[in-house]
Amino acid sequence: MTDTAKPLLRVLQGEALWPPPLWLMRQAGRYLPEFRALRDQADFITRCMTPDLATEITLQPIRRYAMDGAILFSDILILPWAMGQSLEFVPGTGPVLGAIRSASDLARLDPKRVPDATAPVMETLRRLRATLDGPDPIGAARGGQVTLLGFAGSPFTVACYMVEGHGSREFDATRGLAYAEPALFDRLIDMLARATADMLCAQIDAGAEAVMLFDSWSGLLPPAQFRRHVIAPTRAIVHEIRTRRPGVPVIGFPRLAGVMAAEYARETGVRVMALDTGADMAAMAELVPPDVTLQGNLDPLLLLAGGDAMTTEARAIRDVMKGRPHIFNLGHGVVPATPPEHVGDLVRAVREVG
Ligand code: CP3
Repeated sequence: MTDTAKPLLRVLQGEALWPPPLWLMRQAGRYLPEFRALRDQADFITRCMTPDLATEITLQPIRRYAMDGAILFSDILILPWAMGQSLEFVPGTGPVLGAIRSASDLARLDPKRVPDATAPVMETLRRLRATLDGPDPIGAARGGQVTLLGFAGSPFTVACYMVEGHGSREFDATRGLAYAEPALFDRLIDMLARATADMLCAQIDAGAEAVMLFDSWSGLLPPAQFRRHVIAPTRAIVHEIRTRRPGVPVIGFPRLAGVMAAEYARETGVRVMALDTGADMAAMAELVPPDVTLQGNLDPLLLLAGGDAMTTEARAIRDVMKGRPHIFNLGHGVVPATPPEHVGDLVRAVREVG
């Protein structure tokens, strides 16, 4: 079976399929009892850095729901951690990092450490690809139909956590630093853009068939800052990947970017635009180039609620995109309280065509 027979990969490359392929952001996670069982065996970073565990966690939703895509189990903050920034995931609090606020803080980070520090992640990708495309001893391969996705955070969103030192609703320290010390902030973004392009190329070499850039906080920026810290570095990353690994699709996800998402789609060169919950799919389809595949965008809280309201809205999103390259997904990640049966109901609803 050739790679291009994989439905998700075909749509990532610009073909329209009916029904659309689907996968869900955070499809491997706390809502799954089999994930919670493994969660207690090791802390989060250890789980990401242990190929046996990361491979198993990535495959859990594939086995249960036969998703069209498997997304590497890791985190966007693994990159700053690999460059030497301290990182801990504190239960109930989230990530805690040693905040970067000055040139001397920045000088302590070393992108040259990333290949060695992320070697276990690349091993996980090699095992995943071999499992997904190989014979099927564990019931997850689905005959070579599943596309393997790598990812990274976008420079701005990763910088938010690096500068703030923890999660936030507004990331005031980060946005303040971008205005107060523009040269320092530009250096941080530039360092992250280069390291991200290199890491994504390494993920592709290890087996990722497409890569996604998560920009969860880009919507906090006004247009001029959005162009400088989101569009410009994303265009640089996409250009590097296109040059060094031609033909590998890049999915962009500038969450909460509103109308700036259209400029992002036109200017960055991403092959696929993932839309957040607030985006009107049909309206956005008019604003982005017709050859850009759209991904999204059911409200994760409707998946939490389940029932007819969920299946009706899921089919409405699917149907309005008919004839256009579209990948069904949520507008943000699966929330931990989601009943696993609702995910099964959603997958059936999207795949059932009358
Ligand atoms: O989609 C997937 O399941 C693939 C793996 C993945 C994780 N995080 C696993 C994870 C991906 C793609 C991410 C991306 C990520 N990480 C983003 C961008 C997407 C988004 O949600 O906006 C961001 C902002 C992060 C940073 C991060 N990681 C936070 C803020 C937290 C704590 C809050 C939370 O959601 O639990 C994490 C931890 C994290 N990343 C967990 C998982 C499964 C939970 C760790 C645990 O307690 O087991």
